[in-house]
Amino acid sequence: MVLSAADKTNVKGVFAKIGGQAEEYGAETLARMFATYPQTKTYFPHFDLSPGSAQVKGHGKKVAAALVEAVNNIDDIAGALSKLSDLHAQKLRVDPVNFKLLGQCFLVVVAIRNPSVLTPEVHASLDKFLCAVGTVLTAKYR
Ligand code: HEM
Repeated sequence: MVLSAADKTNVKGVFAKIGGQAEEYGAETLARMFATYPQTKTYFPHFDLSPGSAQVKGHGKKVAAALVEAVNNIDDIAGALSKLSDLHAQKLRVDPVNFKLLGQCFLVVVAIRNPSVLTPEVHASLDKFLCAVGTVLTAKYR
């Protein structure tokens, strides 16, 4: 998944808009993922998964921080998320299909909270970026 210079600019623009609200975006993304794709809940048997629970909020914060880290290192997402890639591929063994579901939910949250930012071009760039993150996090399966 190669991001063009325009894609990178678009993605950075989205995250600039999100700004300090990244944690809320993360928590809403997870709440939507668990509600819409209940099979994703099987990876979190140890969590209270009701929307707004402290664990969903806390995990949303971590996921959002990882996305921000990827944006801040958009030319080396694999390097920036290397440890997270080890964790998801080798320890958690999350089925790769689930990354598309999380990405989809994040796009919906951006669309709802920031409709004007998500032009078709920006939508396409953000989708590419989320796919690139998913590819990195599932790159080390063996
Ligand atoms: C843990 C990020 C996708 C399941 C984590 C952590 C981060 C993270 C930052 C915490 C790591 C730590 O505490 O050291 C991401 C990102 C994703 C993604 C950026 C995609 C954009 C997924 C998906 C699933 C998943 C799709 C499953 C449906 C888990 C689980 C944990 C975890 C089960 C461990 C939770 C715990 O016990 O605290 N992820 N993740 N992740 N992730 Fe992901």
